[in-house]
Formats: sequence, structure tokens, C-alpha cells
Amino acid sequence: MIKKFASCVKGYGIYTILTPVVMVGEVGMEVLIPFIMAKIVDNGIRGDGGTAYTVKMGLLMVGMALISLMFGSLGAYFGAKASMGFAKNLRGKLFNKVQDFSFKNVDKFSTASLVTRLTTDVTMVQNAFIMLIKMGFRAPVMLIGALIMAVNVKPDLSVVFLVSVPILAVSMALIMTNAHPRFRLMLDRYDKMNSDVQENLIGIRAVKAFVREDYENDKFKNGADLVRKAQVSAEKLVILTQPIMQMTMYATILAVLWFGGNMVIDSEMQIGELSTFITYINQILGSLMMVSMIFMILVISRASINRISEVLGETPDITDDNASDRDVYDGTVEFKNVTFGYNDTAEEAVLKNINLKINSGETIGIIGATGSAKTTLVSLIPRLYDVTQGSVLVGGTNVKDYRLEKLRSAVSVVLQKNVLFSGTIKENLRWGDPDATDEQIVAACKAACADGFINDFPDGYETDLGQGGVNVSGGQKQRLCIARALLKKPKIIILDDSTSAVDTATDASIRKAFRENLADTTTIIIAQRISSVKDADRIIVLEDGRIDGIGTHEELLENNAIYREVYDSQQKGDED
Ligand SMILES: Nc1ncnc2c1ncn2[C@@H]1O[C@H](COP(=O)(O)OP(=O)(O)OP(=O)(O)O)[C@@H](O)[C@H]1O
Ligand SMILES: [Mg+2]
Repeated sequence: MIKKFASCVKGYGIYTILTPVVMVGEVGMEVLIPFIMAKIVDNGIRGDGGTAYTVKMGLLMVGMALISLMFGSLGAYFGAKASMGFAKNLRGKLFNKVQDFSFKNVDKFSTASLVTRLTTDVTMVQNAFIMLIKMGFRAPVMLIGALIMAVNVKPDLSVVFLVSVPILAVSMALIMTNAHPRFRLMLDRYDKMNSDVQENLIGIRAVKAFVREDYENDKFKNGADLVRKAQVSAEKLVILTQPIMQMTMYATILAVLWFGGNMVIDSEMQIGELSTFITYINQILGSLMMVSMIFMILVISRASINRISEVLGETPDITDDNASDRDVYDGTVEFKNVTFGYNDTAEEAVLKNINLKINSGETIGIIGATGSAKTTLVSLIPRLYDVTQGSVLVGGTNVKDYRLEKLRSAVSVVLQKNVLFSGTIKENLRWGDPDATDEQIVAACKAACADGFINDFPDGYETDLGQGGVNVSGGQKQRLCIARALLKKPKIIILDDSTSAVDTATDASIRKAFRENLADTTTIIIAQRISSVKDADRIIVLEDGRIDGIGTHEELLENNAIYREVYDSQQKGDED
């Protein structure tokens, strides 16, 4: 897993390496400057070095300060480049991974959670990454460097660190270990709040239609408040670090001034050495605190790292690794003893022992109550899900033996919950065939009875659809989706309740156009209305995941109770 994250520095490796290098350079200067300072005070001003020595060392000090500044700025620059590049690569990797996910994989994580993982979690890891490359080396090097210099200046006085460093280290460790679970809680609540917001925004139309704004507001307020409480409780501990740090530092300085002052009086120590020593106290305790902060951030980001790893480690459950490069021969579809369940743990399968053969070019209707597994049955044909038992054959070959691209371009599905994307009508239609000519686009739209209303728009085929196709009505959207599916020139076309929002007259003309234009294409129509399927070559009646009957309209009326019941109720509805 570390390898997966490490590979994200690709292209920015040089910055990732240079950042700690220049940061360590900066530390070197910072640790040496107080040392020069001591020399200036003790040899230049108080000793017999004279003005020339003072100026020379002064200039050296300025030079070192400038180098330190340069290293510091470069560190910030390289660090920013490295961490942003890292985040970009990590996001790209995640996004690519999600594109390979099957419906089942996406269901497992939920869309909202995938969005959070791609945004917030990546930002968390990015922050940890920049902290690690900038401070992960700087702080320990500073701690050790300043300690060495302090011991070098006055070994006797350095004994104070034997007391103050452990005190500070232990209190930091205590604070950080206690803060960790509080931060975890904060992140979990943050996650929940995020998914509430996403759900709200995705479903904003339903929220308004059901006048749920107040409820949603309260829900959000509660969620946000829980985040606040958890954050306050975590930060309460973290802010303790500052006073503890200050107290330890001032106590140490006090001790050093006391013992060091006496040493100066007894001429065992120079005044410059004493002031330098005090600067080192600052550096040593400051970097110790920094080290504990780094641990903290790494610990906080661990939750995000885990969440990202889960996505990266997920194996797409539908792959075409073992497939050969064959084309789909024709539009025959065959189900052999197919059993399917959405999850392996469910007691009862959604589809049970389905055996079915559909000939190429046939038109098949599917009728059944809601939840009878109509959508599930057809999802297996373009391999949106894999069968649990048995096999599905398209063009005489198991769907698992096709490359997904080949299979899915031969099987066009107009899904029940269909979406259009932001962009113009034409751009959306070109999803079906990127190279489609304008004539082909118009022909497909005519077959889907979409040409008429498109031409009524002032911008015609260039009309912008808005995000998710908000600018067209439900029925118009369905017709655009049908046209998009037709443009693929598939061998099999599946319409899952795709004309439910279209009036019966238009529905009839779409079917007529299909009969005329798609004689060789296997057409599978799922519908609630008998009128939508009654002209089909055969109609399948599904009941609770089983095939209850297959036959023509007349045959089923004759010998299938469910079909007759549905027919009678719809006839009655028409007469009323
Ligand atoms: N993604 C899913 N995860 C788990 N269970 C699912 C999923 N999709 C559908 N189901 C379950 O599978 C069963 C069949 O659903 P399916 O969508 O195939 O019914 P349908 O006949 O298409 O219904 P409708 O006419 O309402 O579209 C239902 O009991 C449903 O709860
Ligand atoms: Mg359905």
C-alpha cells in the first residue's frame, strides 16, 4: 500500500527530495548563526578581536542568514510543488480506479463516500505529506543539531536538557495520544455531515417538493454542531501544548540563567556563550514540539490514508482480463440456469434459475410487478453485474469472454435511472458514437421521436442541457437517451421502462420507428404498459425473479393469469 502512495510522487520526485534537503540546509544555518553570535560577543566585542573581527564575523552572519532565507523559501516552493503534484497524482489514481469499478463496487462504497474520499481525504493526506517532507527531517535534525551545539558550547550546562527534554516529550506524548481518538471522532462526524450535504444537494428537488427544508436545516445544524463539539474537545487538548511548552522553556531559561550566570561571574563561561545557549534552548524545545506535531498530523491523516487505501485496494469485480478480442457475432441472448443475488450473503437470490433464449433480431417485451427483477435480468446482458450461478451468452459466447468495451458497444442499454451530462444535446448524443455525422444524429433522434422537440428549442441541437440534463422534461430526456443508445448501432438494444414518461401516442410512434429501422436488432423492452409490449414477438412475464410465462400477447392472454390480470386492470383504467 505504501508503494501505491509512493508512486504518486512520480513526476515530482525531484521536488520531494529537494524539499527536505534545503530544509536541512536551512537548519544548518539556523544552528550555526547563534554560534557565530557567541564568537562576535566574546572575541570581537569583549575580547581582543577588535572591530575588524566583529565586521568580518558580522558579514559572515548576514551571509548565513541570507542563505538560510534562501533555503527556507526554496523549501516552501519545492514543498508546495511536491505536495500539490502528489495530490494531483493521488486523485488521478483514485479517479481512474473508480472508473474501473463495477456497479457492485460503487454500491459498496456509496457515491457520497467516494466523493469525500476523492476530495477531503486527499487534502488531508496532502497536508500530512507536505508536513512530512518539510518538517519530518527539519525538526529532528534541528533537535539533534542544536543539542550537539549546546553541548559543544557548554557541556556542564547541557545537563538541564536531561530534565526539560523528557518532561516536554512525555507531556506531548500524553496530549497527542489522548487527542488522537478525539480527532478520529471529529473526522467520522465530518464524514457523516459531508454525506448529508451531498445527499441533500443531489436530492434538492425532492427536498423542495416535500417541503423538507426545515428538517434538512436541522439535520445539517445538528451534524455541524457535532463536528464543532468533537473539534473543540480535540483542540482543547492541543492548545495545552503551547503553555506547557512555554513553561518548560522559561523554566529551562531560568535555570540556565541561574547556573550560567554564576558561571559567568566565576569566569567559567563567557557572556556570549550564555546568550547563545539560550537561543539553543529555544531551538531544541521548539523542534521537539514540532516532532510531536508531525506525529499528530500523521495520526490524524491515518484515517484518510486508510479510506483512500480501501478504494485503491478494491478489486473491480468485473474485469475482462481473460477475454479474447472477439466481436459480438449477432444479437442472440441466452440465459442458462442463471441465478443472481446482489450480495452473496442474501438468503434469497433476486433471479432464480432463469433459462431463456432470445433470437437475433427478435423483439422481446418484459412485464412484471415492481421489484420482480426486470432491471436485474437485463443488467446481466451488458455485464453490469456478474451472474452468481449459470451463464449469460451473447452472440453465442459467454459475456465473460468478451472485452467489456466490445460487449457494451454491441449491447446498448437505456437505463431506468438514466442521466445526461452537462453539455449540448449534440455532445450528449455523441456519447453513442463520437464520429456520428449530423445526418446520423438527426436520423436517430427521428427514430426516438426527439427531433421534433429539439427543433422547437431556439438553439436546436446546440441547446445546453445543464448539469444532469436539467433543462429538458422527463419524457424529453428519455427520448434523448433512446436516441443516444440508437447511435451506437448496437446488435441488442434494451429499453428499461424508457418510455414511461412519454405519452402513449409518441410511445407508439417510437415503436413503429424501431420496427422499421431496427429489424435486425434484438430489442428488449421493459414496460409497465401492456400497450408498449403487445406487438413484441414474445413477451416474458416475470414474477418475483422467476419467469412465469413466455409467449405472444394472445398466447399470454389465453394462458397466463398474471398477464391477463395486468391487461384487464389496464383496460379498465382506459375505459374509466
Ligand atoms: N443495487 C442493488 N443492490 C441490492 N439490491 C437491489 C439492487 N437493485 C435492486 N435490488 C433488489 O433486487 C430486486 C429486483 O429489483 P429490480 O430493480 O430488478 O426490479 P424491477 O423489476 O426492475 O422493478 P421496477 O419495476 O420498480 O423497476 C428488488 O427486490 C430490489 O430490492
Ligand atoms: Mg426496474
